[in-house]
Amino acid sequence: MAKLVGGVGTSHVPSIGAAIDHAKTQEPYWKPLFDGVIPAREWMNAVMPDVAIVVYNDHASRFGLDLTPTFAIGTADWFAPHDEGYGARPVPACQGDPELAWHLAESLILKDEFDIAMVGEMSVDHGLTVPLSLMFGQPDQWPCRVIPLCVNVIQYPQPTALRCFKLGQAIRRAIESYERDVKVVLLGTGGMSHQLQGERAGLINARYDHRWLDGMVSDPLSLTKIGHTELLREAGSEGLEIIMWLIMRGAMSESVRQIHRFYHVPASNTAYGLLVLEDA
Ligand code: DHB
Ligand code: FE
Repeated sequence: MAKLVGGVGTSHVPSIGAAIDHAKTQEPYWKPLFDGVIPAREWMNAVMPDVAIVVYNDHASRFGLDLTPTFAIGTADWFAPHDEGYGARPVPACQGDPELAWHLAESLILKDEFDIAMVGEMSVDHGLTVPLSLMFGQPDQWPCRVIPLCVNVIQYPQPTALRCFKLGQAIRRAIESYERDVKVVLLGTGGMSHQLQGERAGLINARYDHRWLDGMVSDPLSLTKIGHTELLREAGSEGLEIIMWLIMRGAMSESVRQIHRFYHVPASNTAYGLLVLEDA
């Protein structure tokens, strides 16, 4: 039987990837952030999953406004890093797990009525590669298989926070009905507060971010009641990404143990948040 061994919430700021790729992690600007990530890396190294399901949003890389799946799962054998304008990041391609990905799709669609899109060919952008770099550093090959799970947080109408939480619960049921003995970690990425555009560009709301970090641990149902208007107002236009953390939280047990929590401002224009959870 497959087993979910833990959940990670992490921002996926592209400049974090650039800092890693250009050997800047020990510079004064970046060192505090990378120091704060070390316990999560150690945890990941100790549990070492067979598969990481990475919940992220595609930033108009593989998809665009011509095609905006609300939820999409990568069923391919391999996922190459996407060239987002500066050349693809110098990170390995991700080896997929088509068998588990199709099992997830089947379980989500037929048992739980989540109509997720299956994507047989896709490149993956910073939303997926930066969390992997944060967790695993710069190996020649990623140490586990990766299943990309994309969520539309960009184009109206985005799914609700509650829908994301329920998707996480359905993913948990799907993992537990998979007969192979694989260890799975679920990463929810994006957030925390940030706005990259318009008059409020640079917005950071630490008070609100801490409310989310608290709620993720002890009261996720309160977070599922938050509407998009509040999120846009309090966390900024791109801060809406935080709803993807609720997919991870929905997959965890009702009560969880906080293994690591870290918050740091700034990471370029963004508040960086990190949470590692295990079932209690
Ligand atoms: C930036 C982009 C992101 O996708 C994100 O989640 C945070 C920051 C950026 O361009 O700075
Ligand atoms: Fe993003």
